[in-house]
Amino acid sequence: PKENGWITKYVVKYQDTWLSPSVLQGVMLVQEHFIAQPTDILLASLPKSGTTWLKALIFTTINRKRFDFQTHPLLTSGPHACIPSLEALMLQNNQNSSLDLPSPRLFATHIPHHLLPVSLKSSGCRIVYVLRNPKDVFVSSWYHMKKLRLKELPPLSLEEGVDMYCKGVYHFGPYWDHVLGYWNASLESPNKVLILTYEDMKKDILTCVKSLAEFLGQPFSLEEERDGVVQEIIKLCSFDNLSNLEVNKTGVQQFTPKIAIENNVFFRKGEVGDWKNHLTDEMVERLAQISEMKFSGTTWLKALLF
Ligand code: A3P
Repeated sequence: PKENGWITKYVVKYQDTWLSPSVLQGVMLVQEHFIAQPTDILLASLPKSGTTWLKALIFTTINRKRFDFQTHPLLTSGPHACIPSLEALMLQNNQNSSLDLPSPRLFATHIPHHLLPVSLKSSGCRIVYVLRNPKDVFVSSWYHMKKLRLKELPPLSLEEGVDMYCKGVYHFGPYWDHVLGYWNASLESPNKVLILTYEDMKKDILTCVKSLAEFLGQPFSLEEERDGVVQEIIKLCSFDNLSNLEVNKTGVQQFTPKIAIENNVFFRKGEVGDWKNHLTDEMVERLAQISEMKFSGTTWLKALLF
């Protein structure tokens, strides 16, 4: 059957998480060889949850005294070159865990919390996790897959896609377990794990960027606030600005020797609630039931996501 063919060719299950075979290799390299430093900052997320946006915001916030906004590297390199993916980097470096980057080292990862190396969790490094409504994550990822047009994959209808998503077969999925892993970690260590939501960022980015800077130990000074630095960061990282940059319109990000993705794939609509234009009542009901079951006991998550 198509589904089985798709699954075995494209994603495999590793310790309750669905991963593509090459990514699995990267995850295992991280588990075996990555040595975290207490000053490291890790941006964690499920794909299509707002990673690109948050990469831009974290990089700009942390480096706001280092780079001029007019000649900022983000303008010419794009968010994915500014903050590398940890698992991709390990694949590229082939076990070289020294990862000689300026401090604080900034990494992004899609690895679920339970698969992070123990040394990383105990290193005291800070983790920022961005989550997004599961229905919008699904729709965004469905378009992402369509755009990539992976030749080795049979096309996937929306119905088939929803079915697989509900079964947890999604990159780094199941969605719900990924979110819960970081959610629980933030309850245990609120000063080490910050949860942001794509929806809150869309609603009130000013508050989000300020709490982000505070959490990262670099709060904005009164002077910076007065000079409009926060607003400049927000403008630089906005959907309109980033998606219209030449590097994001025509550039390609080489994640690993084998994985290259056109930057424009990371910019589509940038809105909340596009699922309403795609999902049937039946699909919504099925997703709601799973969320109800998985997120029982987490009133906040349920209220936010449905
Ligand atoms: P849509 O497909 O719903 O438009 P990720 O970066 O995790 O892959 O997520 C991609 C999603 O974030 C896409 O959502 C994309 O359009 C949106 N996005 C990218 N940059 C953004 C920005 N600066 N502001 C708001 N949304 C952004």
